[in-house]
Amino acid sequence: MIQTIATAPIAGQKPGTSGLRKKTAIFRQRAYLENFVQSIWNGIGGIAGKVLVLGGDGRAFNAEAVQIILKMAAASGAAKVIVGQNGLLSTPAASHLIRLRGADGGIILSASHNPGGDDGDFGIKYNTANGGPAPESVTNAIFEASEAIAEYQILTAPDLDLAVLGLSQMGDMAVEVVDPVSDYAALMEQLFDFAAIRALFASGFTLRFDAMHAITGPYAREILVNRLGAPEASVMNAVPLPDFGGGHPDPNPVWAHDLMEIMMGAQAPDFGAASDGDGDRNMIVGRGCYVTPSDSLAVIAANAHLAPGYAQGLAGVARSMPTSAALDRVAKARGLPCFATPTGWKFFGNLLDAGRATLCGEESAGTGSDHVREKDGLWAVLMWLNILAVKRQSVADVMNAHWAEFGRNYYSRHDYEGVDKAAAEALIADLRGRLDKLAGLPAGPLTVTQAEDFSYTDPVDGSVTAAQGIQIMFEGGARLVLRLSGTGTEGATLRVYMESFESTDFDMDPQTALGDLVLAAEALAGIKIRLGRDAPDVVT
Ligand code: G6P
Ligand code: ZN
Repeated sequence: MIQTIATAPIAGQKPGTSGLRKKTAIFRQRAYLENFVQSIWNGIGGIAGKVLVLGGDGRAFNAEAVQIILKMAAASGAAKVIVGQNGLLSTPAASHLIRLRGADGGIILSASHNPGGDDGDFGIKYNTANGGPAPESVTNAIFEASEAIAEYQILTAPDLDLAVLGLSQMGDMAVEVVDPVSDYAALMEQLFDFAAIRALFASGFTLRFDAMHAITGPYAREILVNRLGAPEASVMNAVPLPDFGGGHPDPNPVWAHDLMEIMMGAQAPDFGAASDGDGDRNMIVGRGCYVTPSDSLAVIAANAHLAPGYAQGLAGVARSMPTSAALDRVAKARGLPCFATPTGWKFFGNLLDAGRATLCGEESAGTGSDHVREKDGLWAVLMWLNILAVKRQSVADVMNAHWAEFGRNYYSRHDYEGVDKAAAEALIADLRGRLDKLAGLPAGPLTVTQAEDFSYTDPVDGSVTAAQGIQIMFEGGARLVLRLSGTGTEGATLRVYMESFESTDFDMDPQTALGDLVLAAEALAGIKIRLGRDAPDVVT
């Protein structure tokens, strides 16, 4: 029943910031998925006798991929695979399930916020026993295995019916189909004051959650509607679709524009939120008031003690380097250790495992805590609802009070998407080559004080990760970061992150407040000329 199939390495199976992402059509090519899955098994030292968790965000090819992976796990001797019903699991729910069941690891099928469907993207990611994305040592081993692969094993067996909950067998391997929502919802009930949030809704508080036709629809319905009493219509685009209804399931003001229009309109509800393809990102927006992810993280850090799961306080907090320093201000005021890591949730894993950070977040709309080892979209929504249920203030009032206490870090990210890869790499390389000569020099209207290529030494295991983005500081405290995205599938994406601190004036348009930094970035990097672009494609 076990077939051994000869194959050869396929170039480019190198996991990026968050797993291997390619066009769906590429994953459908002969042996593309099989090669990578066998490379995971080979890269982690085999899966004989191991227990794995498996599920994905329901995008095109999810259902076929789950069956292939089950047959390959069975052929390589896995003891058991725990799989979400119909092959579905949100990323945070998968992380929780790995931890809850003490599994050896898990496979998550998603390209996160990238569009899906036959013309969209697909992705696959391996998570380790702590529930978090595999660290670089593991993803490198998987990549090396992909470059040396000569054969893969697969069971000849009929597909399993994954609609039916419960235990079954595939060859000698046990398969347990579980409800994707219930364990996760139970965890949320432990962390947050559901009675207080129920009372908030009962008092007439209104919510609109945009599931963007992605994985969080069923989670949001169960938690927000069934358990917390929000009206059914509070969840929009609640039915997951293989192509996300043709949308781009990235919760930011550009791609979640339908929700933004509602929230900025005359009939806006009190609170709006959205999550991405696989449910780990979040967007928070109040009536007429968008909350930038860096500020959301800082507000959560300042108020997490209002939620029962965090009443004992935070051990420490962490952010990715390009995320604004709003978090640092809260940490300083509260005497909390604060860490800056490279972009990518995996870098928080050691800090969370070692109990040195309780709360983490990124400017890329990710927020989470030590309850799982992934960022968690609905968790962030529930945290905000818990805070609002206690404070009984509007989102705008919460933000104004926060800035009055800590000051405001104006923040924006400009993305140049799908640009020529060689040109983008040359832009970064050229700037990198000049870093040690920049201090003291003018850049547009600003003056550079410090410039570095960010390198991270993990405080827990001492591992060093270099070349994680160019960070430039200016007189007056403004900061500019440039790096190339590690999650795209076409060309390159240049990200330009800008931040400046303001202690009294909180009502500026961020683009105005950051105007000098835009000019400085152009003066330093020559973005327009090198990339042939007049303006960024996405401004957050
Ligand atoms: C994924 C990762 C995040 C990361 C984000 C941005 O969502 O899980 O941790 O911040 O990608 O990555 P990029 O390399 O595209 O800026
Ligand atoms: Zn995601």
